Amino acid sequence: MVRIGLLGCGNIGHIIGQYRENIEIIALYDRVFQKADDMAITCGGIACKEFEQFIKEDFDYVVEAASVNAVRLFGKQVLLNGKHLIVLSVGAFSDPTFRDCLTETARAANRKIYIPSGAITGLDNLKVGRISPIHKLLLRTTKNPVSLGIHCDERRLIFQGKANECIKEFPRNVNVSVALSLAAGREADVELYADPDVDRNVHEIFCEGDFGEIYIKINNVQSPKNPATSYLAALSILTLLKNLDNPLVVGT
Ligand SMILES: NC(=O)c1ccc[n+]([C@@H]2O[C@H](COP(=O)([O-])OP(=O)(O)OC[C@H]3O[C@@H](n4cnc5c(N)ncnc54)[C@H](O)[C@@H]3O)[C@@H](O)[C@H]2O)c1
Repeated sequence: MVRIGLLGCGNIGHIIGQYRENIEIIALYDRVFQKADDMAITCGGIACKEFEQFIKEDFDYVVEAASVNAVRLFGKQVLLNGKHLIVLSVGAFSDPTFRDCLTETARAANRKIYIPSGAITGLDNLKVGRISPIHKLLLRTTKNPVSLGIHCDERRLIFQGKANECIKEFPRNVNVSVALSLAAGREADVELYADPDVDRNVHEIFCEGDFGEIYIKINNVQSPKNPATSYLAALSILTLLKNLDNPLVVGT
């Protein structure tokens, strides 16, 4: 069993709780205490009112499924308290100063920071970008306006630019653009479309390098309780946790 502390008891937190086959949830923390308390009743674990109490409990991994701000607020304390950190709100790493600081803290504490594939696939081999040049890396994301918290009657380009700028405007919608940038070792370009005719979260990845070209299209089913979040993202956390101790490592 993998012993985890759950930071964020929302949509993804609930899916983790629902499919916790090889996972023991030891402690739960949410800024809305009632959410942690409700989950503790069904999934077990201690619901904590304070983060300081949560992080002292006896578990090995913090699964962050809260927000970019939560990673900024608590990331360092997680590592300094001897826990590994699994991050879904990857947007926090768009700030290079914060990213370097947290990475150094992890190194000094001999802990790891894991970034799961989340709502996309293909992060594994994009890491070739650190060895052999990647000339183009573009993420085209299309979501229903409701997921983006806006209204429009027809397909509209609402952002075009760099990943680190896009995440500032849409911290709950384009975490994958920062994950792509981290994997490839170069900042991704982003086109974000709102389209009232789509009921999926669609991510298209265009990549060109010395190796050739990649095109990946992911049509994500939305999570039932949060249309901004793809169901695949929750499944990717579960997959990561399931394979942590597996001696046969596939696709890194
Ligand atoms: N990497 C990816 O591919 C990917 C995909 C989907 C979602 N995400 C990110 O994962 C996170 C969770 O997604 P979700 O759908 O479960 O969101 P959600 O809004 O349903 O749940 C988030 C929970 O975290 C809590 N929370 C937020 N900030 C907090 C803080 N500072 N301290 C403590 N608790 C806090 C909220 O109260 C809420 O209960 C979001 O940041 C989302 O953008 C990443």
